[in-house]
Amino acid sequence: MKNTIVTLQKRKQNRQKITMLTAYDYTTAKLMDESGVDCLLVGDSLGMVMLGYDSTVSVTMDDMIHHSKAVARAARSAFVVTDLPFMSYHTSVYDAVLNAGRLIKEGQAQAVKLEGGQAFCEHIKMITQASIPVVAHIGLMPQSVLALGGYKVQGKDYQEAKNIVLDALAVEQAGAVAILLECVPADLAKIISELVSIPTIGIGAGVNCDGQVLVYQDMLSMYDGISSKFVKSFGSIGDQMKQAFKQYCQEVNKQQFPEAIHEFAIDNDIIEKLKLEFTVNKKG
Ligand code: KIV
Repeated sequence: MKNTIVTLQKRKQNRQKITMLTAYDYTTAKLMDESGVDCLLVGDSLGMVMLGYDSTVSVTMDDMIHHSKAVARAARSAFVVTDLPFMSYHTSVYDAVLNAGRLIKEGQAQAVKLEGGQAFCEHIKMITQASIPVVAHIGLMPQSVLALGGYKVQGKDYQEAKNIVLDALAVEQAGAVAILLECVPADLAKIISELVSIPTIGIGAGVNCDGQVLVYQDMLSMYDGISSKFVKSFGSIGDQMKQAFKQYCQEVNKQQFPEAIHEFAIDNDIIEKLKLEFTVNKKG
């Protein structure tokens, strides 16, 4: 059964946690879907982990659509959320609706995510009015890295914390179906999760959110870019991949791979005939 916004809402009501991981390609998304991950986020973090940029600001709509399509094809049950990238919704409400529509129609997403609280309520309202579910990303908003001067925990003083609570209440009021809370103190995330009736999904926001999300290259120790206190390694897949790549190189160089079992056979008569026809100059 395909997960929908109703599945997520019911999870919150029944106090069952929601699992979300980022996904950017068909093969990995299929493995996650088959493992029972509830939601796949085609995050603009693909700018770093897939494209090698040092932030998300260069990611384009075409990048997002390309990866979203691949993930959606793999997601038999997981709910697919795709990020609106930097500058695809900031310029106007019109652009926001248009680009959200592209992520749904071309990217085959089931919902879009945008970074912003009170300042983006009109955008959320109008996208929602176009029958497109919106996940609002508040707390640390990585698309604002240039304005923030780096990636820092948000909401540590009273005014900042209050503003994040107001963001959460405002996006819920505007029609958001879920809130992604990034890098905020755990007790603040707890207050927000109790205040709003829509699910909260946390990253660096403690255990009391209604769900959790991680960038999969982080949780599998595949990416050695920026690392955060909130990331837990669930496997040394990066090391395992490197080991396998090294072994492949060694075996090819030593002619240990391919072996006979990897080869296709041909009738010896045909080979002899070919040899006669195309005499190999053995003298060189
Ligand atoms: O783009 C992304 O990967 C995100 C993370 C916070 C999960 O939004």
